[in-house]
Amino acid sequence: MNKYQTYRNFCEQRTTLHQLRHMNETVIGMDGHAERNGQRLMNFASNDYLGLSHHTELITRAQTYASRYGAGSTASRLITGNHPAYTSIEKRLAHEKGTESALIINSGYQANLTILAALADKDVTGKSVTVLADRLCHHSLLQGPQLSGARLIRFQHNNYDHLSDLLNQEYKKNTHLIIVSESVFGMDGDCADLATLTSLALQHDAILYIDEAHATGVFGINGFGLTPAYRGAIDVVMGTFGKALGSFGAYIACSEIIRTYLTQRCGGLVYSTALPPAILGSMDAALDLLPQMQTQRKHLLTQASRVRESLKRQGWNCGNSTTQIIPIILGDETAATTLAAHLMDDRILVAAIRPPTVPRETSRLRLSLSAAHNTAMIDHLISVMKKHAPYFATTQKSLAS
Ligand SMILES: Cc1ncc(COP(=O)(O)O)c(C=O)c1O
Repeated sequence: MNKYQTYRNFCEQRTTLHQLRHMNETVIGMDGHAERNGQRLMNFASNDYLGLSHHTELITRAQTYASRYGAGSTASRLITGNHPAYTSIEKRLAHEKGTESALIINSGYQANLTILAALADKDVTGKSVTVLADRLCHHSLLQGPQLSGARLIRFQHNNYDHLSDLLNQEYKKNTHLIIVSESVFGMDGDCADLATLTSLALQHDAILYIDEAHATGVFGINGFGLTPAYRGAIDVVMGTFGKALGSFGAYIACSEIIRTYLTQRCGGLVYSTALPPAILGSMDAALDLLPQMQTQRKHLLTQASRVRESLKRQGWNCGNSTTQIIPIILGDETAATTLAAHLMDDRILVAAIRPPTVPRETSRLRLSLSAAHNTAMIDHLISVMKKHAPYFATTQKSLAS
């Protein structure tokens, strides 16, 4: 069994560092709840920001599509799988995002990985490619450029002076430039400055790629994110259906030519079986519901600001969050896992996030709120956090110093 020794060493090292990950059996329930080990928990760990994962309209449309069109799509979209629903969903997405076209991809991870790899392909660009990505970008946004062999530079988080300096240096080298950022950062709940990013991209003739995984459904007119306000200024916008839109899958909104190019060159589209019809059904239903969910969006963001302000008053470090995602930054790995376990005892499910998902010494709990949480659940969360605040004060202080 020597061939496994290196993997065993790796896992043992993760264990020593308190970074070993586990998958816990959990049943996601309705109304912002989940069940684990027979215990009903308040779910503050999911990305189900609008509570759509259990909406009857998504479920029945998925059932209808499955019984009408089958359980699977049988091949990739280019071979047999381009169900007509793709066309209508993509048209609606393009319309709402204010772009010429849109393209559904099987998941957000697959989209970021394979689209960025295709956009950064130097065999196509004919010159070297530099991708400048925000330091806190999701793993998938970094993997795509790495796969293509492009030069990947990470600029300091939301630091556009740093980005501007890097762009100026790279521009002089006549490289093909791609800027990558999230609009709402998934682990920090703060926002990029899209006005500055669009203007830097324009000045340096750079492709601008924005990930709206955590903004989709929550922000913007009809819930279509923060990017529609910058029509024509962002080259590719990625959004997901697996978070606020309640089911699974992802899309990009872009120009017609980018879509045509990706249809030739994006491995995640060309070489992967298309989504099952049931998923197209729930996507379609979510798009019907989204524009009518202004009340839920308002409720969600009001609850989020109440939680954030209460936690800050209790002494927790919530970083620069301004959205439905609220980190509780503890620094230390064991502090994060210990606090998550204490919260579980009080029926609160929340994820402890540790390196390498977040930078070293910024281990945290990632609280994510949902419109499905009622006031009693929010009250419970705030009072349980208050109970634990004094015991974690040392970690909080050391972080602040
Ligand atoms: C910012 C960001 N982009 C992309 C993804 C991947 O999306 P998906 O879950 O659809 O694969 C995630 C998932 O957590 C994410 O947080």
